[in-house]
Amino acid sequence: MSDYQLVPVVSPEDWAFFHAVRQSELFARRPDIVYDANHPDDRTPRHFPLLLKFNGKRIGVARLDLLARGAVAMRLVAIERGEQRKGHGRALMRVFEDLARAKGAIRIFLNAHQSAVGFYESLGFVRENWVDPAAGSLGDDSVAMSKAI
Ligand SMILES: CC(C)(COP(=O)(O)OP(=O)(O)OC[C@H]1O[C@@H](n2cnc3c(N)ncnc32)[C@H](O)[C@@H]1OP(=O)(O)O)[C@@H](O)C(=O)NCCC(=O)NCCS
Repeated sequence: MSDYQLVPVVSPEDWAFFHAVRQSELFARRPDIVYDANHPDDRTPRHFPLLLKFNGKRIGVARLDLLARGAVAMRLVAIERGEQRKGHGRALMRVFEDLARAKGAIRIFLNAHQSAVGFYESLGFVRENWVDPAAGSLGDDSVAMSKAI
């Protein structure tokens, strides 16, 4: 399991990968949204843009947002196209939970794309409506979910 690392997005190459995977795996589904690589939500002190590395290679992205009272939001989760369905998403969730716990969280909230609900359910997430401070930025087809950690 030490093959996986969840690390901050730091270098220009990190950011390029981060934006490319989001655009290809998430925003390509939403032609109504113009992807903003300089969005302030990625630069807020309580938000942590993250890369998943496997054996040192970048393979996935996510963002951890600190919410109130021991809660975090998991945002914009994706594994790069050629690496999906190989167990990396499951590993991403595990190391993300470790990081969330280290930041004092006891619950993770997310808004799942319809196609990924089964993925999250297989990892213990349940459907639960939550008050998302970023509400309005989401597609109508997302499913609110959470997991106690
Ligand atoms: C969703 C995603 C993050 C899952 O990562 P992954 O590396 O492909 O998933 P894994 O290989 O770790 O799969 C873990 C388990 O979930 C299952 N699974 C994976 N994707 C699934 C899906 N879309 N629906 C249902 N089950 C899924 C796998 O079969 C596997 O189950 P198993 O261990 O019993 O075989 C990845 O496929 C992805 O980036 N998809 C495109 C972007 C996206 O939809 N992101 C989520 C937006 S909320």
